[in-house]
Amino acid sequence: MNHLVDIDITDKKVGLRVDLNVPIENGEILNHERLSAALPSILYILERTKKLCIISHLGRPEEGSFNENYSLEPIKNWFQKRLNVEIPLLSEFKNIPESLCLMENIRFFKGEKDNASELSAMISNCFDVYVMDAFATAHRQSASTYGAILEAKEACAGQLFSQEIKSLDSALHNSENVLSIVGGSKVSTKLNVIKNLISNSSKVLVGGGIANTFLKAAGYEVGISLVEDEMIDISRKLLDTNKIILWVTHNLDELNNFSNKFILLQDAPLFKGEYTPIGEVVYGFEILDTIADDHRREYVLRPDFINSFKLLTD
Ligand code: 3PG
Repeated sequence: MNHLVDIDITDKKVGLRVDLNVPIENGEILNHERLSAALPSILYILERTKKLCIISHLGRPEEGSFNENYSLEPIKNWFQKRLNVEIPLLSEFKNIPESLCLMENIRFFKGEKDNASELSAMISNCFDVYVMDAFATAHRQSASTYGAILEAKEACAGQLFSQEIKSLDSALHNSENVLSIVGGSKVSTKLNVIKNLISNSSKVLVGGGIANTFLKAAGYEVGISLVEDEMIDISRKLLDTNKIILWVTHNLDELNNFSNKFILLQDAPLFKGEYTPIGEVVYGFEILDTIADDHRREYVLRPDFINSFKLLTD
């Protein structure tokens, strides 16, 4: 794999695919973490060339048309403020300015989802170097995350992508006590990763929507929560390895109510601000993520538990 630091990008036209898929409510960005995580590559590139076009998706809009609710406008404003520079928001891969710019949501473009060769070629033709830094979207075989890389004159991994690969590599090849943490909404898209981590980790902590499928597999009522019923059998088998930990409560008093197969570490809010123990979720209710008032996700880890693992920092 080529890395950004290994490539001479001096004064070249660079396309940078990042994952700026952040939660936005009424035009307000609720969590900036992914935007900040994109900065190291952006700054590195800008030190070497001004011809940088940033590309990202946001949400899952219908392809082929503009939808204001999924526009990158709030994200453009965030970067303008952060970098103290005007950033044009483009709507097509034509006449790309030779300065920092942001392409509108790539999922507005027909062919992105199905990796259409016309779109891949249109993207890659605009740049001398195509940098893939959207690690969180790397599992999608889309035009901007796959086809454009294959078509590019020169392609490489960005700073964040390289760092993630390094961390994964270090976790997978570390024989010491390793705790892996997996989130997301679907078991199906993470199945191979989870299997891999199970064979390479001491424990795999599972949170987010994925935890619901495991909870159901373990016999808990999950109401109308996001669940993949077709993954229940395989989830049961994964639970049988005794390596899966479900991250679903931070109420320490609740811990005793569960079989010691699970260590439960996150609350299961039914509504914002109202919590119900997992064991008491009833039909018609939905398990949601915890969002604290300041919009940060609130996770509390038991120190005695977390301290039993070594933290891999790089
Ligand atoms: C994510 O938030 O998981 C990534 O941005 C990928 O988004 P997607 O699941 O809509 O492809």
